[in-house]
Amino acid sequence: MAEERQRASKETNVDSILGRMVVEKNLCTDTEVEECLDVMKNLARQGRPHSLGDALMAQGYVTPTQIQRLQKTIEEARPTHRIPGYQILEKLGSGAMATVFKARQLSLDREVAIKVLPKRLSENPEYVERFYKEGRAAARLNHNNIVQAIDVGQASGYHYFVMEYVEGKTVYDDLSKGKVYSEQEGLNITIQIAEALQHAHERGLIHRDVKPKNIMITKDGVAKLADMGLAREAEDEAAAQMEAGRAYGTPYYISPEQIRGELDIDYRADIYSLGATFYHMVTGKVPFEAPTPSAVMHKHLKEALVPPDHINPNLSVGVAEVIEIMMAKKRSDRYSTVQVLLEDLQAIQQGEPPLQAHQKFDAAVLANLERGRAQPRLEPETVPAERGNSMVWKLLVIILSGSLLVAILIIIAMTMNR
Ligand SMILES: Nc1ncnc2c1ncn2[C@@H]1O[C@H](COP(=O)(O)OP(=O)(O)OP(=O)(O)O)[C@@H](O)[C@H]1O
Ligand SMILES: [Mg+2]
Repeated sequence: MAEERQRASKETNVDSILGRMVVEKNLCTDTEVEECLDVMKNLARQGRPHSLGDALMAQGYVTPTQIQRLQKTIEEARPTHRIPGYQILEKLGSGAMATVFKARQLSLDREVAIKVLPKRLSENPEYVERFYKEGRAAARLNHNNIVQAIDVGQASGYHYFVMEYVEGKTVYDDLSKGKVYSEQEGLNITIQIAEALQHAHERGLIHRDVKPKNIMITKDGVAKLADMGLAREAEDEAAAQMEAGRAYGTPYYISPEQIRGELDIDYRADIYSLGATFYHMVTGKVPFEAPTPSAVMHKHLKEALVPPDHINPNLSVGVAEVIEIMMAKKRSDRYSTVQVLLEDLQAIQQGEPPLQAHQKFDAAVLANLERGRAQPRLEPETVPAERGNSMVWKLLVIILSGSLLVAILIIIAMTMNR
């Protein structure tokens, strides 16, 4: 009996969520849902219980595929129904680590986003620690361009993180549809995220995973940096040790020093990733493309960047220079702080040249001239592969010259002997 009651209440719950979802998605009206509920009641009275999904299909309001999709979404949201104080509305998306739901915070009657760790990860202490770290790090920040953290906790064995619900899209959504941002649009978003990073950096936090998926754009065009999940305090040596050798970020935007698993990752890693994101926005291409993640990472380390204005000739020289400095392989060639970067970004926005980038380029030209090179491009930190190649050539030339000399000597000796 108790089991039956539980099953009935589960079904009712699914029906009420489904009823709300079909209306939210404009598949049918409130009245039509009411009509289906009446049909269900009649059928139940006749001893033929039907779900709301069946009734909606029978009345021709939804197709079987639509119902299947909606039921899948509800099923995926199920574990979090039991988070006290929140009512789950729908799934917003999922990433490598967690699933994000839209929910209503009942006490304040407002919409929020809840990030829930899957059960398998909820049982993994290392993941749980990283998850809580995101909450704690984000809670310390309060900035219009950062997705605000609200709450963090655990319910029914699931760990969750509640944050501001951002109605809008991610930069990734635009890019995946093939959008190429204009210079002004790209600049505008980059400036807002740089301001978010400045706020975080001033409080000792490095984001470590700046990328298009973590930049949300509201309907009013406000850019918000999401996911401080990989953030840690700059001096957190233990965390650095743990991450050493592992590339947590997405390879398209990750800095060379993160790829190398260096221990002293600093704010300049975020500058590189923001530069790579800016590059993608205004050129429509990721900075380095290759068939495998490790080949992409190899290119971040070794391959010279195709200047963004070579891909999109509409870009100003200034913006191309700024992106190249942001993405310098050697971090001492990058902007030293986001504050300095912001000076250049704002200068370009006002139609002025990026003075800080010019200084960096002048320094690079001087350094290259000293090394006897005319190329002003910024150099990779280490180029062992190139060095290796030139050694092979040298060896080959020596062997060939030696062989030639020996052959000549033999011919001379043979001629003299005759
Ligand atoms: N605060 C929020 N408000 C609204 N939607 C959000 C919010 N946070 C995340 N989302 C949505 O949920 C999706 C999943 O987010 P999540 O951070 O789990 O992964 P991701 O950043 O997309 O990818 P990855 O795990 O590879 O970093 C996002 O792409 C976004 O569409
Ligand atoms: Mg994210």
